[in-house]
Amino acid sequence: MGVGMGLGMCATKPWKWPGQLSPCTCTHCPQWPYCEKRCSYCNFNKYIPRGVEEAAMQKCLVTEAQTLLRLSGVQRVESVFFGGGTPSLASPHTVAAVLEAVAQTAHLPADSEVTLEANPTSTPGSRLAEFGAAGVNRLSIGLQSLDNTELRLLGRTHSARDALRTLAEARRLFPGRVSVDFMLGLPAQQVGPWLGQLQELLHHCDDHLSLYQLSLERGTALFAQVQQGTLPAPDSELAAEMYQRGRAVLREAGFRQYEVSNFARNGALSTHNWTYWQCGQYLGIGPGAHGRFMPQGAGSHTREARIQTLEPDNWMKEVMMFGHGTRKRVPLGRLELLEEVLALGLRTDVGITHQHWQQFEPQLTLCDVFGANKEVQELLEQGLLQLDHRGLRCSWEGLAVLDSLLLTLLPQLQEAWQQRTPSPVPGG
Ligand SMILES: C[S@@+](CC[C@H](N)C(=O)[O-])C[C@H]1O[C@@H](n2cnc3c(N)ncnc32)[C@H](O)[C@@H]1O
Ligand code: SF4
Repeated sequence: MGVGMGLGMCATKPWKWPGQLSPCTCTHCPQWPYCEKRCSYCNFNKYIPRGVEEAAMQKCLVTEAQTLLRLSGVQRVESVFFGGGTPSLASPHTVAAVLEAVAQTAHLPADSEVTLEANPTSTPGSRLAEFGAAGVNRLSIGLQSLDNTELRLLGRTHSARDALRTLAEARRLFPGRVSVDFMLGLPAQQVGPWLGQLQELLHHCDDHLSLYQLSLERGTALFAQVQQGTLPAPDSELAAEMYQRGRAVLREAGFRQYEVSNFARNGALSTHNWTYWQCGQYLGIGPGAHGRFMPQGAGSHTREARIQTLEPDNWMKEVMMFGHGTRKRVPLGRLELLEEVLALGLRTDVGITHQHWQQFEPQLTLCDVFGANKEVQELLEQGLLQLDHRGLRCSWEGLAVLDSLLLTLLPQLQEAWQQRTPSPVPGG
């Protein structure tokens, strides 16, 4: 979810269909679109500026946050996620100003999760403490690797030593509330040494860890190098082995794999991301930020997928003219929303409970959709899926092959939807 310093807010209260609307809550994702340097693998919406007009940027983030909060009719913000780009390059004053704007426009409970994505730096005594004073209470650190050759390949500006020092400082300032991103499946990476890095990380990390398999993105330097043959293509079988063995190591170390890529111990799950997988509402603020919410403040009862203008200068002009820089709005139909509930919910270990599903679709139960289908039955018999009194979820084995399970589940949902008795709900 974190892309740029976008503000993200997610609805944790049940989202209801027209006629049953309740005052809504959401999460907020501000995006800071600037980075120091382009990493070789990254295709996020980011810019390497000569200089940043921070005061103007801050003003626009504040304005857009206020506009979209009013438009959404959201009354309570459960979490805020400053993503990027590199939001740790923004000034703590900007972070504080955005949080203040949120708190003035909606209720931001004192215990809301406020996360900042932070890149490791070579400068000790960084501004992490100032971010804490500004209202940040959780950090997500882009560590990526503990091998200097790999870090160079990725085009990172930090060394393994910098990463560990930043991590130690973060843990001192935000005990129990530090997450690290760690990548796998890099070109030429081997299973044994990667597992060695993971074991080393376990000596240093806090209670939350995200494992991301490298996705080779068109348009990146890494993609070009692989195309030109100067680097070997990432090996998907080795990556699958790293993932399987890595998740086993983390389980052994007491981490719960609560989502396909996310691991937590001592209950340190990310509220913000959890709301996202539960298909809650969130507001995306800042250049290129994505959001999903119902513009109730404008009288609408349809949830929309929204994307803000990508390029920072254009986005700022639009915010100054219209109060927001929303470039694209796509109303989500009921089936589309159910597809999201299914695909996102199954990413978590809890899966989709019957109560959760019912909040989105009161008439067609999970058993109606999946109970009698032969292919789904096979997945249940193979032990990849579970459908019982709790709901529908992946087993430990199933979580690792979710994409292939969805190839059966999504068409089955579409078919059941076509065959259903049309609902009397307006707009249904
Ligand atoms: C929004 S990104 C970047 C956050 C921050 N600027 C940084 O670089 O650490 C969040 C995470 O996505 C992961 N990521 C980014 N590009 C990726 C790619 N092409 N394949 C796999 N993971 C990627 C990285 O682990 C990164 O830490
Ligand atoms: S990976 Fe992070 S720091 Fe690197 S270019 Fe992408 S957003 Fe910027």
